[in-house]
Amino acid sequence: MPPPLALTVNGERRLLDDVPDSERLLDTIRWRLGLKGTKEGCRSGECGACTVLVDDRSTLSCLTLAHEVDGSTVTTIEGVARDPVGRTVQEMFARAGALQCGYCTPGFVLALVGLLKERGRAAPTEELLADLSGNLCRCTGYLSIARAVAMLPREGP
Ligand code: FES
Ligand code: FES
Repeated sequence: MPPPLALTVNGERRLLDDVPDSERLLDTIRWRLGLKGTKEGCRSGECGACTVLVDDRSTLSCLTLAHEVDGSTVTTIEGVARDPVGRTVQEMFARAGALQCGYCTPGFVLALVGLLKERGRAAPTEELLADLSGNLCRCTGYLSIARAVAMLPREGP
């Protein structure tokens, strides 16, 4: 029998048996682990709704096979507040009222956390917004999302 798929998800070690080679990380997260905060939108890498962090890098879980990330650390919206940067981003989204239906929000939050980890807290707002252009909001709440990004403190956690 092949060894189980091993992931650390939101700080918890998970060993998953019988995961088919073709299973998407998105399905592992939503259906095996029951973490429904990660959303499925386009299924083709064009909306960002399914964004999670894999080893702190922003990753589209609809385009990633679970076995590709065997042994990795995965952060979903349910665990993002464990991290100081994630907590700050969540707070800014809440303060800015940067959600309407909320379907796109987990993907925006995780994508922004990934950008801040990659580029550092001093990254200019315009650059962050440009790099978030792969995330779509069907409610067109872009102004409030931009406000949340602009409100991010540039120093400290
Ligand atoms: S569902 Fe993955 S990018 Fe749209
Ligand atoms: S808040 Fe509804 S899709 Fe963005």
